[in-house]
Amino acid sequence: MQELPPRRCDPFFSDMDTRRLALEFDDVTIKSGQTDVMPADVSLETKFSRNVGLKTPIVSAAMDTVTESRLAIQLARLGGIGVIHRNLTPDEQATQVKQVKRHLNGLIEKPITVRASETIEQILAQRLEKKYTFHKFPVIDKHGCLAGILTKDDFEFCDDVSKTAAQVMTTELIVARPETTLAEAYNMMILRKKKALPLVNERKELVGMYDFSDVKRLMSGEKTAFNLDPKGRLRVAAAVGVHRDAYDRIALFPPDIDVVVIDTAHGDSKNVAETLRALKHEGALTCDIIVGNVTEPESAKRLLDLGADGIKVGQGPGSICTTRVVTGIGCPQLTAIYNCARVVRNTGIPITADGGVRLSGDIPKAIVAGADCVMLGGLLAGCEESPGETFTHHSGRMKKYRGMGSLGAMQNRGGRERYGQGEVPHEKLVPEGIEGAVPYRGMLADVVHQLVGGLRSSMAYVGAPTIPALQRRGDFRRVTQNGVNTSHPHDVMLIADAPNYRR
Ligand code: XMP
Repeated sequence: MQELPPRRCDPFFSDMDTRRLALEFDDVTIKSGQTDVMPADVSLETKFSRNVGLKTPIVSAAMDTVTESRLAIQLARLGGIGVIHRNLTPDEQATQVKQVKRHLNGLIEKPITVRASETIEQILAQRLEKKYTFHKFPVIDKHGCLAGILTKDDFEFCDDVSKTAAQVMTTELIVARPETTLAEAYNMMILRKKKALPLVNERKELVGMYDFSDVKRLMSGEKTAFNLDPKGRLRVAAAVGVHRDAYDRIALFPPDIDVVVIDTAHGDSKNVAETLRALKHEGALTCDIIVGNVTEPESAKRLLDLGADGIKVGQGPGSICTTRVVTGIGCPQLTAIYNCARVVRNTGIPITADGGVRLSGDIPKAIVAGADCVMLGGLLAGCEESPGETFTHHSGRMKKYRGMGSLGAMQNRGGRERYGQGEVPHEKLVPEGIEGAVPYRGMLADVVHQLVGGLRSSMAYVGAPTIPALQRRGDFRRVTQNGVNTSHPHDVMLIADAPNYRR
């Protein structure tokens, strides 16, 4: 086997391996070390896939109670990335991906337009149905030319929704040539005090549009925490299945999608390998492809050799998973991460640790074991931005959270296929997950703030200013059940909720 540059935790795992012990996050604590690193000064930059970076190592799970466009937009604004789930039709899923990509545009290449003859009522209904979060709509006349623009003010001051776009729209426009650069757009918009700059060709047809809030942010060079692609758009990923499911979905994704995740319960299978090979070698897809899930190093190696741009690790550690008890399969998550990460070390292929993160301290543990980022389900399902409504249970606010292999989620083909039961009739389904609920946790930004706060502090304890430094310098100590008990609050009665602790 090829000699790898050592990491501080290598002897720990080698010792555990000799004793044939596989570990979960709770079985270890991270050793502190001499440090001059302050939590506020660490860099959380890392990678999700070969070519796609993250500013915060947090990825939201491809689950129907976790990641749709609203949460994905907010998570990308916080530096992470969301994976839009596949319990949606290919059309619906592609629309959600587009919503994220269009949310924040330097140049909006294909602005959503309305016809001059449409009524404001029709346009508002469409805006609601398609879940558009913006208010600026270029208006196109019957010759296909730009006639005006509907702005937020036009909607707000409209006293009669039966009026047409032509009657309400702003006609005092500035327009520019198709090749207008971001800097030119910025200068024109500042000079003319306009918040939209449509680009038109010589036939007066609309070919793009700049939005001032995006242009200003990009021009100011503000070091935002946003996770953006090279064109200044929020990053997003989407889950696909194998064969036909993958090809049908990919055909509808916008070309600027950042990552496609082949999302299955067992990534080391013939169907996954054939799909990955086809996507990689037949040029069907140009963006990065992450593949999962696996837990054994030999499986990670096979995916690496097939050209995967990232590998997702975890079989059964999730809060709603029953795979391990229903099938007896799986590997405790900390050991699975280490074993798979060791195989890809120095290849530039990142590892996503998927499932089982219960508290912020599990994130640095996953990273010390070799992960580049963590995928979270249960911790994000209770956020305001996740799909679904809150409900009251024993006087507490809750949100539904269910496994993609639960009976409920398997009503949809996406859920069934993830567990290789695409063709199985309902009464014969063998679920590998449960349906439950988690406490309502408020806004994603507050949840991520606490998770990242714990990680930053951990890095300061270790003396690691960056994620790669944490991977190199971090080391573990094995703890007993006594250690676990003492790690949690003990001998007191909890009388107030902490923002980062629940038991
Ligand atoms: P957490 O612990 O963050 O885990 O809630 C989320 C991850 O769990 C996986 N997942 C499942 N695994 N049965 C399983 O065995 C299921 O029904 C199921 N649904 C989701 C998935 O990898 C997710 O990211």
